[in-house]
Amino acid sequence: MISKETQEQIKSLIRIEEVVGEFVRLKRSGPRYLGLCPFHDERTPSFVVSPALGIFKCFGCGKAGDGIGFIMEHERLSFEDALRFLARKYNIEIHEQEKSSELAAEESLRESLYLLNDFAKRCFRQWLSMEPSIGLSYLKERGISETIIEKFQLGYAPAGRTLLTDKIKQSGYNVELAVRVGLIKKHSESEDTYDSFRDRIIFPIHNLSGRVIGFGGRIIKRSDTAPKYLNSPESDIYHKGKTLYGLHLAKRAIVQQDNCYLAEGYMDVIALHQAGVENVVASSGTSLTEEQIKLIRRFTNKVTLLYDGDKAGVMAAIRGADLLLEHGLQVRLVLFPDGEDPDSFTRRTSSDEFMTFLRREARDIVGFKAMLLLEEAGLDPIRRAEALKNIVDSIALIPDGFARNELALSMARMARLEEKLVISELNRARKAYLEKKGRAPIQTIISPLENEPTPREKKDTSVQVQIIPEEMALIRWLVLYGKRKIKFYSSQNEQGIKVQHQSTVWKFIKEQLSEDNYQMASEGADILMGLLESYFESDSSAYQNAFDFLLQKVPHEIKPLLIQICADSEEKVSPGWQTKFGVGVNHETDHISANTLHTINALREERVRSFLKQYRQELNQPQNEDHHYLILKKIMAWEQTKKELSQILGRVILE
Ligand code: CTP
Ligand code: MN
Repeated sequence: MISKETQEQIKSLIRIEEVVGEFVRLKRSGPRYLGLCPFHDERTPSFVVSPALGIFKCFGCGKAGDGIGFIMEHERLSFEDALRFLARKYNIEIHEQEKSSELAAEESLRESLYLLNDFAKRCFRQWLSMEPSIGLSYLKERGISETIIEKFQLGYAPAGRTLLTDKIKQSGYNVELAVRVGLIKKHSESEDTYDSFRDRIIFPIHNLSGRVIGFGGRIIKRSDTAPKYLNSPESDIYHKGKTLYGLHLAKRAIVQQDNCYLAEGYMDVIALHQAGVENVVASSGTSLTEEQIKLIRRFTNKVTLLYDGDKAGVMAAIRGADLLLEHGLQVRLVLFPDGEDPDSFTRRTSSDEFMTFLRREARDIVGFKAMLLLEEAGLDPIRRAEALKNIVDSIALIPDGFARNELALSMARMARLEEKLVISELNRARKAYLEKKGRAPIQTIISPLENEPTPREKKDTSVQVQIIPEEMALIRWLVLYGKRKIKFYSSQNEQGIKVQHQSTVWKFIKEQLSEDNYQMASEGADILMGLLESYFESDSSAYQNAFDFLLQKVPHEIKPLLIQICADSEEKVSPGWQTKFGVGVNHETDHISANTLHTINALREERVRSFLKQYRQELNQPQNEDHHYLILKKIMAWEQTKKELSQILGRVILE
C-alpha cells in the first residue's frame, strides 16, 4: 500500500489542469479552464476545471472530482493505481507500506491481461533483437530506424509454433487468460495450444495511457493463404472500434498542432513519425467509428485524412468524411500519388519535402468533393443535379450553422448557382437529416423591434437554448466586462457641444437595449440577461465574478449554453467584427468602449436584416393591395434604419 506521506505528497504536487490537460483539450476562460467532457458525448464544452479548487466538474453529466478521481475515472484505475500513475507523471518516489494490495490489483482480470500483454511485448522485442533476426532485417529493409523501433516498441514473433506459449507457461502466467487476450490459440477439441502470431512483425497497440491492449502482426513472407495483417481479437481490454493506433504518442502533438492526421495503417503512422510528423493516428484497416471520432475530438476538431490518390482511396475518403463532418470536425484531405501510401511516399522524399507536401496538398473535403463530383457530372443537367444534392447532403450534416452556410455559399459560387437556391436546398436537406435523427429542426426566432413581438414558438416545455450569435456575443461581453467603466460622448447639444458621459458596460448596454425596446430572440438569452441584471444591479459581492454567479444560478438546461458562450474565443463569437466596423482591434480589451458599441450594433444590424427578410417574404405572398403597400412602407423604413445604423457610429463617438 502506498504510504500516507506519499499520498499527501502526490496530492500537493499534482495540478488539476495538467492532469486533465493530458487527456482533454482545455481552453482558459477567466479563472477556469473549459473543455469537452471526456465522460459523455458533447459538442459544446460544459466540462470545467478549476485550478484554484483543484477540481473538475462537468455540468452536462455531473461527474466531478479531484485529480486522482479524474485518473481513476478516466483510466479506469483503482485509487492506488491512480496514485501510481500520477507519481510516475510527477516523478514522485513511492513509499510502500505493504505489498498485499498490489498483488490484489494484479489478480483483477483486466490487470492480469495487461500484464500478459506486457510480458508478450517484451518477448517479441527480445526476439526482434536476437541475431540473426529476420524481423530486424525486414524493418531495416523498409527503412525503419532504431529510434522508431524503440518508440513504437516493435517486435518480432519468430516462425516457431509454441515459442510464446512455452514462455507464458514457463513464467507461470495463466494460459487461459492468454487465450482470452488472444496471444495463444486453443484447438477446440484437442485442447492443443499454440501461438497466435507466428513469423510476423509485431506492432503493439497501446491505449491512451500507454498500456498494451493488443497487437497487430504483419506477415513477412508473402502468402496467398495467410492474411497480411493479423490483429488481436476483441477482449476485455481491446476494443478495435474504440482504439486509434498511435494515439498515445500523438495526443500532445495533436493538441499542439490543433490537427490530427488520419492514416490507414500501422506503417503509415510509423513512417510519418520518422518524417517528423507526430500528430498522426490510424484506424487500422476498418472504417472510422463514432467512438474513434469522439476520441479525436477530445484533442482537436480538425482532421486531415491521408489517402491513396487512386479511385478507391478517393471514394473511401469521401465516404469516411461524412461521419466526421456530422460530428462537427473540420475535415481536410491529402491525396498521395496514385498507388502510394504515406509510408511509401515518405521513403521517396526528404522530411522537409514531405511536410511541405502535406501543407500544400491539404484541401477542404467538402470543396474537394464538390469539385470532383461537378467535374464528373460535366454538363449533363441530371448528373449535375445529383452531384449537387449529394454535396448538399454532406454539408447538411455539419452541426455548426455558420460553417454550413459558408460551405453552401462557396459551393454556389463554384457551381455558378444562385445562392438562394443552394441555401434553400441546404435547409431542406438539414431538415430531412434532423427528422431522420428524430430531432426537431432548430429555428432562431427573432421578434421584431416594434411593439408587435412575434410569439415564441414553443415545441415543448423545455427551454429553448439556441441563440443567435449576436446575442451570444453580447452576453459574453457582459459576463467578461460588464463592470468595466466606459466613456462616451453623446450627440451634440443645441450649442453644438458634445457631452461626455461615464457609464459601465452593463449600464450602457442596458440603456441602449431599452431604447430599442429590444427583446432577446431566444429564451436562453432572455434568462441569461435577466440573471445578469440581478448580478449587476444588486449586491453580488459574494461571487467571484459574473460567470461564477451565472454558473450557480442558471437552470440546468442553460448551463451548456452559458459555458459555450464564455468558452468561445473572440474571433469565433463575432466573426468579421473588425472588417464590419472598420476598427483595427488587436485585442478586444484594448477598446472596451468601442467594442461595447460594436457588440450592440452588430445586434441591431442582425435585427434589421431579419426584419427586412421577413417583410420581403411577406411581400411574395398573395395579399390585398393595402397590405402590400403597408409592407412596402415598412421595408422602406427598415432600409432607412439600416442606412442610419452606420451613422450611429458617428452619432455616439466613443473613446
Ligand atoms: N489490415 C488488417 N488486416 C489485413 C490488411 C490490413 O487489419 N489483412 C489493416 C492494418 O492495420 C493495416 C491497414 O489495414 O495497417 C492498412 O492496410 P494496407 O494498406 O494493406 O497495409 P499497410 O499499412 O500499407 O502495410 P504495408 O505497407 O506493410 O503493406
Ligand atoms: Mn504500405
